[in-house]
Amino acid sequence: MTTVATMVPHSRPSIETDEFQAAIDVLRSRRLAQGGMVEQFERGMAAYLGLAGGVAISSGTAALEVALRALGIGPGDEVVLPSYVCAAPLLAIQRVGAMPRVVDIDLETFGIDPAAARQALTSKTKAMIIPHLFGLPADLTTLERLGVPIIEDCAQTLGATEQGRAVGSVGLLTICSFYATKLLCTGEGGMVLSRDESLLERVRMLREYDEAPSLRPGATNVKMTDLQAAIGLAQLNRLAFFFERRHALADEYRAMLNGTGLVQPIVPAGRTHVYYRFVVRMPDLHDQVDGISRVIARFEGRGVQCRKPVFRSLHRYLNLDGFPAAEEAECTALSIPLFPSLTDENVAQVHMALRLEWS
Ligand SMILES: Cc1ncc(COP(=O)(O)O)c(C=O)c1O
Repeated sequence: MTTVATMVPHSRPSIETDEFQAAIDVLRSRRLAQGGMVEQFERGMAAYLGLAGGVAISSGTAALEVALRALGIGPGDEVVLPSYVCAAPLLAIQRVGAMPRVVDIDLETFGIDPAAARQALTSKTKAMIIPHLFGLPADLTTLERLGVPIIEDCAQTLGATEQGRAVGSVGLLTICSFYATKLLCTGEGGMVLSRDESLLERVRMLREYDEAPSLRPGATNVKMTDLQAAIGLAQLNRLAFFFERRHALADEYRAMLNGTGLVQPIVPAGRTHVYYRFVVRMPDLHDQVDGISRVIARFEGRGVQCRKPVFRSLHRYLNLDGFPAAEEAECTALSIPLFPSLTDENVAQVHMALRLEWS
């Protein structure tokens, strides 16, 4: 195995002068907790998605939990979600005491399978959490027809469109994550957004517990700081540039991988992709338990950090069977480094590693 001097990370935030300056300004102001910068960031995100408002939260996971609570979801209620996603939506459902109804995905797009979602509906279903995975919108148009309130999970996708509509602008509530490696980052952080002011007000009431005449059930402290919000605002101003760069890199990868037999990211008609992740599938690995780990180890040896895009499908945590597409994705999907601050040198190193693997 060849050893290489530098490792191309799987992901890295793009932090430049604007973010440094924004953080310094807040530090100089000595107002570090939630304040004016958080309000500005909320207004900026709401304007970006064309919604009435947003409520900044300490993480995407906490945002999912307060979104469910704001809808009054709790014990005795059911919430539909896909199996192939990180554990955050499942944990949020469990924390409010509701029953998760995990369903399979559409293998081509990695998004929730609308037919499977329909089959999971019961008289107890109160909402569906719909993640837009890897930068590609889920099939919102078909999902909307199910007539169940949608919480759009935009942790991995902002700026993409489905039938001309921005992701995040369709559901009753939308959540974002601004974790360090996300499209727009604040270190940790999240937001709940909506066009419905009364729902937003409920989220605000849950975000903090102080200065209330009586104890509010479910209220907690999941606030964001001005320091984080200032970084978020700087990132929001650069978001268009990030997407341009992501598209250019995706085009390069597509050209490199043409003719290799790998399944490249699919963009169905009527949807656009922002390439939060560049996820390829290796159908040959479908019956190999550790095949993906071996591919990742080989890339690591060539100085390129690749990842399984989803660590573990949710049905496995719940000991459920009957999720062939999620299991196929788990065995065959590989995420290749793609982020705006990837240098030309990094790209050349990735190219070399890809050629050694698949030429
Ligand atoms: C689809 C999805 N939803 C929710 C979350 C949770 O966000 P956070 O890490 O900010 O809690 C993540 C985070 O990775 C995610 O990928």
